Amino acid sequence: MTRIQIAPSLLSADFSRLAEELHDVEAGGADLLHLDVMDGHFVPNLTIGPAVVKACRAQTKLLFDCHLMIAEPQRYVDAFLKAGAGMISVHQEAEPHLQRALQMIRDGGARAGIAINPATPAESLTTAIEFCDFVLVMTVNPGFGGQTFIEPVVGKIRHIAQMIRERGVPVDIEVDGGIDAATAPLVVAAGARILVAGSAVFGQPDRKAAMEAIRNSVSVRV
Ligand code: DX5
Ligand code: ZN
Repeated sequence: MTRIQIAPSLLSADFSRLAEELHDVEAGGADLLHLDVMDGHFVPNLTIGPAVVKACRAQTKLLFDCHLMIAEPQRYVDAFLKAGAGMISVHQEAEPHLQRALQMIRDGGARAGIAINPATPAESLTTAIEFCDFVLVMTVNPGFGGQTFIEPVVGKIRHIAQMIRERGVPVDIEVDGGIDAATAPLVVAAGARILVAGSAVFGQPDRKAAMEAIRNSVSVRV
């Protein structure tokens, strides 16, 4: 059975009951918690900032995976480190000094990720992949939960997995957008190991069963 990690995305949780929502997915077997930070500029939506991340930090032991969908994310790396992030990803399309931003994340003791939009090619990672711990491959255009999985991105995941193997670097592939029990087998077969799921976990009444359904979809088909 392939070892995968499931990261429920808080974006689909009930924001009026965040503590209970966190406890629910932690008890249900989540491996990580994915927190989506949006600035209304890089993406057309606004969500949470470091204050909410910090408040959530006190409520759970889950590792926090902060996905920064903000322009020039380097300016906020320190704030998210201080708020308790254990993983931070920055979008390559939004950061003019990518290696520097990744180094700041690592220097702060967190795992550093490069996030790429569906239309950004695998080749764009050539000069930065060595500087990261994971690549977050978006399988929807970022900004909203509940969007449809963009299937042609699967080929790109395979390509990135091959690049990682060829270079022998310890880099994980995370996927985000439209992941559920139907799409998880496709991305895992292509090389993804960290699966972000918003509506497929928090959007379901039984979060434990929802996460088990995703895990089982992978173990039976890979
Ligand atoms: C979208 C966010 C995702 C979102 C995924 O821009 O980055 O993390 O919460 O939601 P689903 O799993 O519903 O596509
Ligand atoms: Zn995300």
